Amino acid sequence: MPRIAYVNGRYVEHASAAVHIEDRGYQFADGVYEVCEVAQGYIVDMSHHLDRLARSLSELRIEWPMARSSLKVVLAEVVRRNRVKNGLVYLQVTRGVASRDFLFPANTRPSIVVTSKKVDPAIAAKRAQNGIKVITVPENRWDRVDIKSVGLLPNVLAKEEARAQGAQEAWFVDTDGNVKEGGSSNAWIVTRDGVLVTRPAEHGILRGITRTTMFEVAAKLGLKIEERSFSVDEAKAAREAFISSATTIAMPVVSIDGHPIANGHPGSVVLSLREAFFHVAEKILA
Ligand code: PDD
Repeated sequence: MPRIAYVNGRYVEHASAAVHIEDRGYQFADGVYEVCEVAQGYIVDMSHHLDRLARSLSELRIEWPMARSSLKVVLAEVVRRNRVKNGLVYLQVTRGVASRDFLFPANTRPSIVVTSKKVDPAIAAKRAQNGIKVITVPENRWDRVDIKSVGLLPNVLAKEEARAQGAQEAWFVDTDGNVKEGGSSNAWIVTRDGVLVTRPAEHGILRGITRTTMFEVAAKLGLKIEERSFSVDEAKAAREAFISSATTIAMPVVSIDGHPIANGHPGSVVLSLREAFFHVAEKILA
């Protein structure tokens, strides 16, 4: 069965799906995206991802490519047509196709692409059992990382550097030595007192949808959250550390720059958050 993508109004074979060479996403990274988890046939937290899409589009003054209600139908349809039970659905909207010019083009329709991919949940489960390693890198991204833009080159390079050092994620660190977020995830620690700490999302990080849902999960589990900055040193001395994103949910971090966190094994708090997440998150049947 061929994989199917949705491109500008049509369901097409993934292998031959294409946008024009003068798409502004391709030329200027002039576009935004969302990734939703698909778990047990449900699209997780779709409404929240669409709310954030609305914000990203509005910040960049890109029009909605279609009605929000139609987009929901397309997301579910792409998941269904690809028979994805567990994995992800990706959507990307760019300002559209126009002869190359920095200024916004007049009368250009936004381009939309939706794809979906299977991911074996056993792989993530294994990763969660072992935990992941992170490295730290100096923040070198633009100021508007609160917009989920497809301009991800610093993130690509940071994560590639992580891989070169045998790690799975890179944490961007600000000039005060405080952790901002990962290349494709938000960063968390658990203090010695069992309090969850994550950086405030008003400025300088992406407001992760998983991060927001995790507040509800923590409340259900009776865990306290503090939204404040934490330093790399505090993280290294923490009881637990973890990352959150639509593709990792809550994933234990067992070392930072080669320094083991606690006993170097995943902690119980992050594993309980991971376990409870699906029950708390919004689930829409694909
Ligand atoms: N990335 N911070 C950054 C820089 C991210 O790229 C992501 C997600 C997050 C977590 O956001 P959420 O919980 O909404 O997934 C934080 C996605 C998964 C990606 O680019 O593949």
